[in-house]
Parts: sequence; structure tokens; C-alpha cells
Amino acid sequence: MKISTTIFYTAIVSLKLSLIALLFSSTVNNPNVKPSSSTNDIEQKVDSVLALMRLNEKIGQLVQYSGGWDATGPTSSQGDQHKLEKLKRGEVGSMLNVTSVASIRETQKIVMDNSRLKIPLIFAYDVIHGYKTIFPIPLGESASWDLELMQKSAEIAAKESAASGLHWTFAPMIDVSRDARWGRVMEGAGEDPFLNSKIGVARIKGFQGDDLSSEFTIAACAKHFAGYGFGEAGRDYNTVNIGVHELHNTILPPFKAAAEAGVATFMNSFNDIDGIPATGDKVLQRDLLKGEWNWSGLMVSDWGSIGEMIAHGYARDKKHATEIALNAGSDMDMESYAYEAHLEALLNENKISIEHIDDAVRRVLRLKFELGLFDDPYKYCDEEREKNEVYTPENLAFAREVAKKSIVLLKNDNKILPLSKDIKSIAVIGPLANDKDSPLGNWRGKGEYNSAVSLLEGVKGMVGKNTKVYYEKGVDLTIPTVEPGANQFLHPLKFNTTDASGIPAAVAAAKKADVVLLAIGENAYQTGEGRSQVDIGFAGLQNELLEAIYKANKNVVIVLMNGRPMDLSRASEIAPSILECWHLGSESGNAIADVLFGDYNPSGKLPVSFPHHVGQEPLYYNQKNTGRPFSQNHVTFSGYRDAPKGALYPFGFGLSYTTFEYADLKLDQTEMAADGEIKVSVTVKNTGNVDGEEVVQMYIRDLVGSLVRPIKELKGFEKISLKAGDSKTVSFTINAELLQFYTANNKWEVEPGAFNVWIGGDSTTKLKASFNVVP
Ligand code: NOJ
Repeated sequence: MKISTTIFYTAIVSLKLSLIALLFSSTVNNPNVKPSSSTNDIEQKVDSVLALMRLNEKIGQLVQYSGGWDATGPTSSQGDQHKLEKLKRGEVGSMLNVTSVASIRETQKIVMDNSRLKIPLIFAYDVIHGYKTIFPIPLGESASWDLELMQKSAEIAAKESAASGLHWTFAPMIDVSRDARWGRVMEGAGEDPFLNSKIGVARIKGFQGDDLSSEFTIAACAKHFAGYGFGEAGRDYNTVNIGVHELHNTILPPFKAAAEAGVATFMNSFNDIDGIPATGDKVLQRDLLKGEWNWSGLMVSDWGSIGEMIAHGYARDKKHATEIALNAGSDMDMESYAYEAHLEALLNENKISIEHIDDAVRRVLRLKFELGLFDDPYKYCDEEREKNEVYTPENLAFAREVAKKSIVLLKNDNKILPLSKDIKSIAVIGPLANDKDSPLGNWRGKGEYNSAVSLLEGVKGMVGKNTKVYYEKGVDLTIPTVEPGANQFLHPLKFNTTDASGIPAAVAAAKKADVVLLAIGENAYQTGEGRSQVDIGFAGLQNELLEAIYKANKNVVIVLMNGRPMDLSRASEIAPSILECWHLGSESGNAIADVLFGDYNPSGKLPVSFPHHVGQEPLYYNQKNTGRPFSQNHVTFSGYRDAPKGALYPFGFGLSYTTFEYADLKLDQTEMAADGEIKVSVTVKNTGNVDGEEVVQMYIRDLVGSLVRPIKELKGFEKISLKAGDSKTVSFTINAELLQFYTANNKWEVEPGAFNVWIGGDSTTKLKASFNVVP
């Protein structure tokens, strides 16, 4: 939709005039308003606007609607006319899922042209792993352990989003998740709180930059507060039962780090924790986050989560849910239609206070000022930028960089990889081998259907002209239930494929080839929201395909594409090589080819444990010892009788085309005062023939505590590059910040006593030293 430039500028001019008038009048009311844009200044401007607002306008700022938008208005299911009227009256604070410069401008204009105070809307969208240039799914990207890289990918996603008119993304998800059955494990940074904290902060910095008002940055959102990743049995939205110490020690640290990093918004979560739905949890939201942590940002509810407190059995009706949510500190109502209907009556009945409403409105206005929307509500609306700054060759090149660094080499017997580019023949086989869509992953923003580079394309682009490349799909992974390219969200996939007719041709191709690249795993829509599974093996006839191919040709490289840890027990028994390629985004096939043919030496490490069997889930390395610790050497009752207890591929694990040796683990002292520090160092040597990168990881165990402590916890890491034959000393500083935990006193404290420290290339490293913290 086009608006003529003249109309556009007229709108801007009249808008600016009215805003100036507004701020002028507020300046009269508030003689302290300063002309600069400092925090104080923003606070005063917020107060000035707030002073002008009527109750219906205040409540309106706390309402967020979803809506597609076209020439005729919003197109969501919740009554377009109602939304349109509310927009005109200035009774909406934010829209989500309105995308494109034209639609955003059109929607903003309704507010600007019709409402009394002309308070601009904020436009939000789930930009989770890229806007249109699609990066690896967050779990995959986390396998790079490369914070700068992840910051930059978020920065690019922000630039593309901002160029398309958006102000706010609902990312990063920093829910620690330990259960591979949970579909949303793909959206976070895995099972470790320390890694989640670091990656969360990197992504927040990437989205927000140093200045939210820049036209290249957008507001980030730390979600889901809290506990969403701990749903029982990995079932999405399920109940969470954890103790208060587990909450503080495992789930909350990434959120604390996000708040400290200045994340602009938080989103609460669907689940209840110990009986209290997170959306109605006052202790978490109002007391801890906004109180103790003194965080001044905006808390948005998750979609419909205020209303869902009725189904939880925590609220009698929507009015009661509204009362609970506002009192608990949920500022903005995403699609529950609760606040707009009930806040006023609740205020009149003294069930809620005007102070709480004002506080919530302030948080919305503050963000709008920080984003610079009061200066120019259309500042992100520029068709030229939308055309020129999105999905650019530079952005795609960076997506390839991120994708190759996210790949994890899980197995590589007989150095079958890397392949020579002059290899005589390759068979590229499997349901995902030429899939141009699944690599885009589940939360692909505006990534276009079928727009990823497939493995087959990547391989063909890499080999010389004398190499024969055979392709066979073999079997289908899923039976389509909707039109290709249609919104898959509401449609369950069907895996009961029974058509094995393609297997003989695949076997024939495998027989002809020097090596088989077998692309199996998961469809993009097997993971993500609402996509929990009890089976984390290969769906459909993929196992049959694997067995048949292996019989025909033992040189099988499994190119795994997936969104969660999978059961690779059989695959790892037979395939000499497994390359974990996640859903790698737009440049998937090219990035995989970079690694397969040795242009890039893989350096990824798992951010999650891969089990031998789904029955081990939830499986995580930082478990407790129990009173009957598991031992590999003798039978105890604590393991499983029919499966190993540990991981098949542990947290932190990943191979390289070279090898690294760790030696000389040294502490500069073995006693530390609780407020002191110890330096620990190790020498890492590249003992192979090629250059490579290694993620050096430090784990610590507090041996005896006022509470049982995990058997080890990641407390530091550094990604280093080493030329073949070179060595490097890597050191970490151990201090109170790393050793403290939420103790039996319900405080963050360092407890004196003995500690172990390990440094190595994964969480099973044996290279250990010990020290004491003295009182
Ligand atoms: C529900 C999801 O849980 C949340 O993460 C997402 O941001 C919202 N829907 C909006 O799409």
C-alpha cells in the first residue's frame, strides 16, 4: 500500500506540532523538563505525558493486539472492527504480527490521525533467529559458543527488522531447558544457566546496541519469566515443580543477567510454578524483578496468559485474572482482552491501585521515548531501507559464517571427513538432502518458504566437475497436511509414512558412490512451540533407510538436521561419521559443504546433552550426585538396567579435524578468601595436522554445601584458535561471583570449604585441581 509523500509529510508535520504542543503544555506543568535526552529527561517526559492521560488512555497503553494488516484493516480473528475502533481512540499500546513498512505505517497512522494524545504504537514480532536472512536456530547457534558471533547475528536481525518498520522482538528465549522432548528446546541456549546467561546477554546487546533510539536497533525481550523450560515430562505449557533454590540457582540467573544488561522488556510464561501461574506471580515479577533487581523495563504477558489463569484454576473469571495479573506486575496484556475489559471496574472497586496502573503505563511510555517514537512515530518506516537493507548478500554471507560455526562434529571414525573436493562420486541421500525449507527452522520470521540452500545444492556448488553427485530422497519424512508454504503452526505433522518405494533407488545410488551423505533428522516443524514429542528418534521410515544404506555402503556420513537432541544410539553404532547440523538457516547447504570439504574445520560444541535413550530425559550434565552415585565400574541401583545413565554425546562435546591436548592445569594459589580470587591456567596444544578452534571450558564443583551442589557447573569458557602444532596457555579467574549460590539462608553467598576445578574440551574432562575457600 502506498501513501503519497505529501500526505505522509503533512501527517508528520501535524503530528510533530501536536507533540510539541503536548510537551510544551507538559513543560508548563513540569518546569523541570530539560531539553536533553538523559534518563532523567525521559522520566520527566514520561511524567508529562502521563499527567495528560485519561484512565481509558492509560489502560489502552497496556493493551497489545495481534493483527495482520491490509488495506481494509487488521485481519486477526478477534474482531477487526473492535481493534480498529480501539486504535482510533488511542486505546492500544502495541501491535504484534503487523509486519512490513506499509502495514506498520498504515496502522500507526490510524492512531496518529484519530487519537487524542497521538501516543505512537510499538510494533513487535517474533524475530527469533533472523528476520528474513535466517540464522541457525538459537540452540544451533549456541553450539558455536562464540558470543561475538551471536551478538552480530542478533544485530543483523535487528537491522533487518528495523528496516522493515519493527521496534521490538520477543527474543532471546533464555529458558534453561533440560528435556529434549520439549519442542522449544530449539529456541534457547540449552541446559546450562551460565551459558544461557552469556548468550542471552550477547543477543540482547546485538538487538539493542547501545542506543535504542538508533534506527538500526530494536528492543529485546527476555523470556519466559520463569520456569517455562522445566515443564514436566517435556510437555509444552506443563506444570513446573521445582524448589525455590533450584529456581534461584538454575532458572533465574540468565534473567538476572538480562536485567543487568538492560534488556528493555521481559515476557512472563504460561506455566505455573509450584501452583502459581507465572503471569500471576507477584513474588517473581513485582517483588524480585521490579523490586529487588530494580528493573525498570516493561513486562508483557505471553499470548493470552492472563486469561489462561482461569483454565489453570487460579482465577474465577477474566476479571479476577486481570486483578491477579496487574497486582503481580504484568504490565501489558497480549491478546487476553482482559485489561481493556476489567481494569477500570477493578480500580473503582479498589481491587487494584492507580499507582500500579501508572507504573505499568510509565514502563510502556518509557520504552516509547527510548525508542524515539515520540520524536517520530514513523521513524522506522522507510520503504527504501526495507528494499535495500534486508536479505542482502552481506547478511547472507554472515549467515553462512554463523551456520558453519554452529555445526558440531559428533563422530569421525577413520577421518572419513573432510572429503576431498576431487572425490570421484558422492551420493546425497535422505528426506532432508534436498529440502530447502526445513533448514529455515521453526521461528523463521519472514524467511521465505523453500529459500534455504539445500545440502545437495551446497555439495554441488563445492565439488569439482569430475565429481559425480547422485541424489535420491529415499523416503519422505512427513506427510504434508497443509499446502506447502502455508502457515504450519496449527497443523500437526504426520510421520506415519509407509512408502518405502524410494529405498531401492537410494541403495543403488549408495552402491555407486565413494561416500554417502545421509541427510536425516527432523522437519522444521517438529520442534518449536507446541511441538513436544515423546519420541526423539528418527520419524517415519528414516531408520529403515539408514539400515539399508549402511548395508550398501559403509562410508556413511550422517548429516543431521534437527531442533532438539535426538536419540542417536543406533546411528552412532553404525555410521562412521555424524555431523550435527541443526536447522542452520538460509545458508545451510553452503555452510555444511564448507565443513564437509574442510574449508572450515568444525569447532561447535553441544549446548545440550544427547541421550542414549529418550527414557533418560530430562538429562543434563550438572546433575546432583545423589546418595547412591552412579558409577560406570560397578552396578548401583541409581542407573538404568537397560541403558547407560550418562549421555551418548555430553554437554560441551564436539570434535575437530585436529586434536587438542590439555596439560599443566595450575592454580596460582590453593586457598582463597571468600572475597578473593584464584587464577587457574591450562596449556592447550593443537596436536594434529591442521589449524583449528577449540572451546576451552572450565567447570567447578563445590564439594559440601548447605544445600546439595551439582557434580560440576560450567563457570568459564574461551574459544581459541590454534595453528597445527601450536600451544597456548588459557587462564580464568575464579572469584566470589563464580562460586556463590543461593544458599540455605536464601541468600547469594560463597560458602567456605573445598572446591574442584576442571578444564577441558567438554563436560567429562578429567583434568582436575582443588582449592579451598577459607572464611
Ligand atoms: C507465544 C510464545 O510463547 C511467545 O514466546 C511468543 O513470543 C508469543 N506467542 C508471541 O508470538
